[in-house]
Amino acid sequence: MTLTGEQIAALARPARFYEQADSTNDLALAWLYEGVPSGAVVIADEQLRGRGRKGRTWHTPPGVALALSVILYPPVSALHQVSMLGAVAIAELAEHLGLDAVGIKWPNDVQVNGRKMSGVLPEVAWDGDQLRGVVLGMGVNVRVDFSGGPLEQTAISLETALNRRLDRFELVVYLLERVDYWSARFGSVALADAWKMRLNTVGQSVTVETPTGAVIGVAQAVDEQGALMVRDVNGRIHRVMAGDIALG
Ligand code: BTN
Repeated sequence: MTLTGEQIAALARPARFYEQADSTNDLALAWLYEGVPSGAVVIADEQLRGRGRKGRTWHTPPGVALALSVILYPPVSALHQVSMLGAVAIAELAEHLGLDAVGIKWPNDVQVNGRKMSGVLPEVAWDGDQLRGVVLGMGVNVRVDFSGGPLEQTAISLETALNRRLDRFELVVYLLERVDYWSARFGSVALADAWKMRLNTVGQSVTVETPTGAVIGVAQAVDEQGALMVRDVNGRIHRVMAGDIALG
């Protein structure tokens, strides 16, 4: 089903809709600096230069996904919870739709049956050393067709997992409801727990690519900041704050 500007205008919040945009995160960052309230959202039906983690591109073809960026104002002490919030809200959306094999691959990929269904890209806006706010970018595969392509084994869409048609506007409404719920709870143990209980990485053998090299070992736990604690073969514990992991 088509996502329309009329639908998005009916959301009970400041919202901007684009049939086509380079990146909703860029548009939301520019809007944030104009002083827009918390919860304001930029949504695009298609992204031409969608950005993913680690400088990668994020593909959003028209009519088949959600690409949205929400403007939030967390306290500096809760900045590490912004990506947790995105992953939890998307996982809750998938669970609400009736999916049970939903997990979060550290740090913030929501997976269904072990395949990536969404991506989260938070970007922080600073004024010198003052925090201005955050843009929480979320991309959800609703009916992206991965069959026959390079991501066939690793990515999945909600409709494929559910085997039924979904209304993207209803997904937007529910997702934003969960973002509102959790953004009123920045800094809480409840938010950290909601993220931790869905993490499917702890206990697994992992290879973590970090800016300073690869860490190979077993994921032991996550700490308060969301960092992954990995024990290597020599028993040394590595605290990994950011990185990409491969299991096994
Ligand atoms: C990842 O690499 O897993 C994160 C992908 C984040 C994609 C979303 S789509 C909406 C928002 N706008 C962007 O340019 N990126 C994020």
